[in-house]
Amino acid sequence: MKIAVLAGDGIGPEIVAQAVRVLEALTSDGMKFETEPALLGGCAVDATGKPFPEATRKLVTEADAVLLGAVGGSQYDKLTREQRPEQGLLAIRKELNLFANLRPVVLYSELVNASTLKPEVISGLDILIIRELTGGIYFGEPRGIKWHDDQRVGFNTMIYSESEIRRIAHVAFQVAHKRDQKLCSVDKMNVLECTQLWRDVVTKIAKEYPDVELSHMLVDNAAMQLIRNPKQFDVMVTGNMFGDILSDEASMLTGSIGMLPSASLDDKNKGLYEPIHGSAPDLAGKDVANPLATILSTAMMLRYTFNQEVAAVRIERSVKKVLSQGYRTSDIFQPGMRKVGTTEMGDAVLMNL
Ligand code: IPM
Ligand code: MG
Repeated sequence: MKIAVLAGDGIGPEIVAQAVRVLEALTSDGMKFETEPALLGGCAVDATGKPFPEATRKLVTEADAVLLGAVGGSQYDKLTREQRPEQGLLAIRKELNLFANLRPVVLYSELVNASTLKPEVISGLDILIIRELTGGIYFGEPRGIKWHDDQRVGFNTMIYSESEIRRIAHVAFQVAHKRDQKLCSVDKMNVLECTQLWRDVVTKIAKEYPDVELSHMLVDNAAMQLIRNPKQFDVMVTGNMFGDILSDEASMLTGSIGMLPSASLDDKNKGLYEPIHGSAPDLAGKDVANPLATILSTAMMLRYTFNQEVAAVRIERSVKKVLSQGYRTSDIFQPGMRKVGTTEMGDAVLMNL
């Protein structure tokens, strides 16, 4: 199993180091991982002038899976758009055709009081948000800022083809079929034609999955319902930008964005695995960031790319055990718990593993 490891910027190297330790620990079970590091994001700009250098492109193309920390930092805000660290992330998603982004929003019962929401609203929560990742307004052309009359105008294009909608819808229906057979498709069809097409295509594909109950929801309502009564949802599917926003919102239902892993898959289950949070420059280098989202991302890697369900569950159980033992990084800390840093949290997971 060849894994490209892209630690990235900010807290990236610290959290990825803990996830790599977890993978290495599994080699005692006879699993063989070959990990190779490469640059992506701001660190790549610093070293090569480009956020997604050719050497990285070559490595991730050859690898079976990619483990990513996070990219970005305010020191890069003055760069041109092409040079921005985030551009490296978008480019790698596009290059590898990782159109299906799976973001599980699971509340560990031990963290029910770490969330800002009431326990009765969130306890038992287990949602999967499926975000289309290589299309929509993130990639649509034309885009830019130009002069029009006497002022500048900024513009982007929200665009989805039927085939792009179809393939993400199939992923969503298949995943929903394996879970609670409930799929909610999120759009803004009352205003945006692009998402009218989205709703039409998803509705048509539903006929191929008669056991899955499909519902539709407008994105503004979905944002509200996620806070009002999140347990009404099982699987949600939506476009690139709505998925970006709703998944950050949903992460707070689990106590901290530091708990949410993700998988970005192509049509052959090659994948890039990363926490959904950012590079948190304010926490970088202090050994305080929560590595659990990244560690949980390796569980997703084992499940989706390498078909190692048993090992994936072992990692997830170890994380749960660590929480029940009271270990908490500062983002999920509560009085009476045992505050630990990034490395100590990694140690605790390894102990239980
Ligand atoms: C995410 C992030 C990225 C996105 C940024 C860093 C480009 O917010 O993965 O959710 O917007 O997709
Ligand atoms: Mg985001």
